[in-house]
Amino acid sequence: MMNRREYVRLAAFAAVAGGLPPVLAGAAPMQDRSPRIGGRQSLKEHAKRRGLFYGCAVDVKILRADGAYRELLAQQCDILVGESCMKWSRLRPTPESYAFSETDDLMAFARQHGMKVRGHNFVWHLALPDWFAATVTKENAERFLTEHISTVGGRYKGKIQSWDVVNEAIWTKDGRPDGLRDSPWLRLLGPQYLEIAFRAARKADPQALLTYNEYGIELDNEENAAKRAATLALLRRLKSANVPIDAVGIQSHLHAADKSAVGGGLVDFMASVRGMGMQIYLTEMDVDDSRVNSEDVAERDREVAAVYRSYLATTLAEPAVKSVLTWGISDSHTWLNNGKEHDKAHPGRMQRDLPFDEEYKPTEVFFAMREAFDQARRR
Ligand code: XIL
Repeated sequence: MMNRREYVRLAAFAAVAGGLPPVLAGAAPMQDRSPRIGGRQSLKEHAKRRGLFYGCAVDVKILRADGAYRELLAQQCDILVGESCMKWSRLRPTPESYAFSETDDLMAFARQHGMKVRGHNFVWHLALPDWFAATVTKENAERFLTEHISTVGGRYKGKIQSWDVVNEAIWTKDGRPDGLRDSPWLRLLGPQYLEIAFRAARKADPQALLTYNEYGIELDNEENAAKRAATLALLRRLKSANVPIDAVGIQSHLHAADKSAVGGGLVDFMASVRGMGMQIYLTEMDVDDSRVNSEDVAERDREVAAVYRSYLATTLAEPAVKSVLTWGISDSHTWLNNGKEHDKAHPGRMQRDLPFDEEYKPTEVFFAMREAFDQARRR
């Protein structure tokens, strides 16, 4: 019996060779089994040929510790984003201090390899430091927010390609007519917290493209449609108040075997964003396979890859889409395998949601993405 790792390696090879692995087919092993994935064969080069940037979220602890991870990023990515290093919880150990060393390392790595960096993020309802609730009040919240943005944005001024200024501000289930989430920032500052943040970001780093980043707006179902409508209304409100906002991030956390499809709702949403003069980034793509009931790894991989293929076919046809980032690059570090996000329906089963497997070998996702880039019809 082959173990899973061996099977996965063979399956990856089979995908490269375009057929059954020789061992399974009974053929003599071939000499060169290394798939051609570097240089012109890399994700970034295939993306670039269609005027797109490919990149991923980076865990700085792994960046520091793992040379093979660094090589893979350098080989495949034109743009990086810190998976967590720029969140308040990491940057702000105390109300008075900043901890920049992880982000500094990410910036140095990107500079060394000529890569762009996205900043993620200035305002989010999650990942706030422990001291936040007891320290930040209605009276001092604006000062905390603008000082944070001017200090962090100022430190990396001119080096960040785009900032996620506000992340996930819409949550229609909170029942407000404007669809805004009942977040700590909303409770402290009211709906104007968005405007305050975008204006402070423009001041801190005038060159960075300022982005509003959201999830749950991808599918053709009622819940996502409501969120899309509220997001568009928010963007219109900000634009009409001359708030500096340049781009929309569509997170793109998807599920394989999802009952709801991606379709006209997202296509129309993207066209509306373009109509407002904004760019679009796919900022955090991954495909959760926990709803796929098959225990057959190859079957699950095919379903995950199929979602990448069809989602990218739909989104990349939209000319405002400029970048595609996956939320991580290898299955060995995907957030879908940590703690509470772990697949409870299939205990012990690891998610395989990204373009490289746990041994940094290309997966079906890698090939699906490359094909999707090649086939992107860019008007
Ligand atoms: C996630 C990280 O991947 C996890 O490691 C962390 O524990 C929680 O945050 N939307 C976002 C990201 O905007 O910041 C989140 O990242 C994933 C969902």
